[in-house]
Amino acid sequence: MPDIPADCIRLSSGYPAPGLIPVKELEASVSKLLREEKDLPLHYLGSKKVEELNTFLQALMVERSMLRQSDGVLITSGACQAIDLIARLLIDDETVVVVESPTYMEALEIFQNYTKHFISIGVDDAGLLTEQLEVELAGRKRNGLKLPRVLYTIPTFQNPTGTTMSEERREHLLKLSKEYDFLVIEDDAYGNVYFEQGMDSLKSMSRGEDSRVLYVGSLSKIVAPGMRIGWVAADKQFLQGLSWFKKDLDHPFAQASMGAFLENVDLQKHFTTLRKVYRDKCDLLLSELKQHLPDSVSWFVPKGGYFVWVKVPDIDTSKLLEHAVAEGVSYVPGKYFYLNQQEGLEYLRLSFSYASESDISEGVKRLGKVIHSAVY
Ligand SMILES: Cc1ncc(COP(=O)(O)O)c(C=O)c1O
Repeated sequence: MPDIPADCIRLSSGYPAPGLIPVKELEASVSKLLREEKDLPLHYLGSKKVEELNTFLQALMVERSMLRQSDGVLITSGACQAIDLIARLLIDDETVVVVESPTYMEALEIFQNYTKHFISIGVDDAGLLTEQLEVELAGRKRNGLKLPRVLYTIPTFQNPTGTTMSEERREHLLKLSKEYDFLVIEDDAYGNVYFEQGMDSLKSMSRGEDSRVLYVGSLSKIVAPGMRIGWVAADKQFLQGLSWFKKDLDHPFAQASMGAFLENVDLQKHFTTLRKVYRDKCDLLLSELKQHLPDSVSWFVPKGGYFVWVKVPDIDTSKLLEHAVAEGVSYVPGKYFYLNQQEGLEYLRLSFSYASESDISEGVKRLGKVIHSAVY
């Protein structure tokens, strides 16, 4: 991504709304923590609140029927460290990895640090095209080609498309994971950011001894990304392998602060506020798109998350960005979310999470002007 000038309206940024970051509550929790425990949270070993954070995250998983008897939770420095640790453990330079196309760019970059062997499977408004995956897997098997060991998916409110995998496809994917013996990394960074209703996670749908789902969670989109709190929920033995690679590359102070915050806050109330704010911002963005974009432009309507994925036929959105930035609005060109960047040229990702309501309206107006002058 080129640098975006500071005065640009940032429809590119997948950050939380500034007003939803619980600054006051965090400040109070950190003060209380230091008052009560003094230097303890600032040592390598840290506060007991770290353990309490783990217990809290486990309870969150249990609430959504995600923990089996043999499962545990490993806290990581964000979902990204979780994905990196899983990749370290499972992927070598011969490993085949399945990714959604498009998908979260950081995850792509992480996997590319470990292997060059990928299978890209498309995504539509019902999520990953599992029929296409089955055809690919069957073809590989028939032709004696190497089968994948891992599949990475963001089944709920995907980044960048905003779409959600249907229940039917979730069942199909889980069936394929058993039939072809691969593990599924379920990245659920946006699972709690729903507008009307949440989805059953792949992890909760796969509770048997032979479950192949490794669940990755994050507090970045629902509390504060700078705290870098993520986790993996999976078999305890598998988590032991991950923690071997993690060593003590933790942030005990951030974890203790988050533990203290969660102890003092009504998280469900925070979720209720957050869901309403993002639903309203998303509705606004969609209605502005309808008003200001040419009829040839289309998009998926998300049921949660942070993003709207827009198709601008016959336009290279990475070239158009320069004009958009000159007009004072930014987005992320679609190509960055693909292994084969050519596939993403006609797409762009808009985020409604970070910009204020007035900036969303003004930003889409500016984008409309730029697209109109490119299309006609
Ligand atoms: C799908 C997805 N996973 C993970 C992350 C990052 O999570 P964390 O901040 O916990 O590393 C993001 C952030 O944009 C994301 O979109």
